[in-house]
Amino acid sequence: MHAPDSVAGTDVRETGTPLVRCENAARTYGSGVGAVVAVHGLSCEVPPGARIAVVGPSGSGKSTLLHLMAGLDRPTAGRVSHPGLGDEDAVGLARHIGIVFQGPSLLPPLTAVENVALPMRIDGVAEDEAGSRARAALVSLGLEELAGRLPDELSAGQAQRVAVARVLARRPRLVLADEPTGQLDRETGRQVLSVLLGTADELSAAVLVTTHDPRVARELDVQWYMADGRLIQPATDPGAGRREVRP
Ligand SMILES: Nc1ncnc2c1ncn2[C@@H]1O[C@H](COP(=O)(O)OP(=O)(O)O)[C@@H](O)[C@H]1O
Ligand SMILES: [Mg+2]
Repeated sequence: MHAPDSVAGTDVRETGTPLVRCENAARTYGSGVGAVVAVHGLSCEVPPGARIAVVGPSGSGKSTLLHLMAGLDRPTAGRVSHPGLGDEDAVGLARHIGIVFQGPSLLPPLTAVENVALPMRIDGVAEDEAGSRARAALVSLGLEELAGRLPDELSAGQAQRVAVARVLARRPRLVLADEPTGQLDRETGRQVLSVLLGTADELSAAVLVTTHDPRVARELDVQWYMADGRLIQPATDPGAGRREVRP
C-alpha cells in the first residue's frame, strides 16, 4: 500500500495548499419543476499527493463533482477554487489537471503517439519535444508497440492505458479519473488502475478516482462517499479532519 505521507519525501498533506477547494459548491441542471440538483452544496479539499476514491451509485453526482473540480463545469451556487494550482483560468488549469474519462477519449484519426502528443502541442510544446515526451510516456507504460496504431486498432484496455499515457506525458499535478475502469473487465480494470496510480506516484500528483466499485475504491488511500448529490467524508479517516474546509 502506498504510504500517504511520503509523497516527494515530505508530509505534503500537512503543509500543502489544497489543489482544489469546494465551498458549498452546488450544481443544478435546468430550472423550475424540472430542475435536477446533481450536487448539493458540498465542501471538500484535495491536498497535494492525496489519493481519493469518490464512491457512489450511478446518478449520485460523481461525474458532476469531478467536472466541477476539473473546471469543465461551473457551480450554480458556492465556489470551486484551485489555490494550490495558482487559481488560474480554465486554460491555465488545464495544464495542471489531467483527466481520464470512462469511455473512449482518443481521437480516431490520430495514432496513439499522436493522441498522447496532442495536448502538449495545444499547450505550445514544440513538435519534437511533444513527440519524444509522448513516446517516453508510452514506453514507461509498456505501450511502445502500440505507438503507431489507430484507436480502432486498440482494445478498450489498451486505449484506456494510452489515455493514461496522455495524462502522464503532460505532467499534471492533479489527476481526475471518472470511472476509468467502468467499461473494462475486472482484470483489465485492475491493470489500468495500477498504471494510473503508478503514474500519479511518478508525477507526485494527487489523484481522485470516481467509482461505483468498492474493490476499486479500496486501492485508494481515502474513500469519500456520494449519495443523492451529497458527499460524506468519514470521520474515521485519520486524514479527514485535515481535509475539511474550515469556516
Ligand atoms: N447534463 C445534464 N442534464 C440534466 N441532468 C443531468 C445532467 N448531467 C447529470 N444530470 C443528472 O445529475 C445527477 C448526477 O449525475 P452524475 O453526476 O452523472 O452522476 P454519476 O456520475 O454519479 O452517475 C443525475 O440525476 C443525472 O441524471
Ligand atoms: Mg458518472
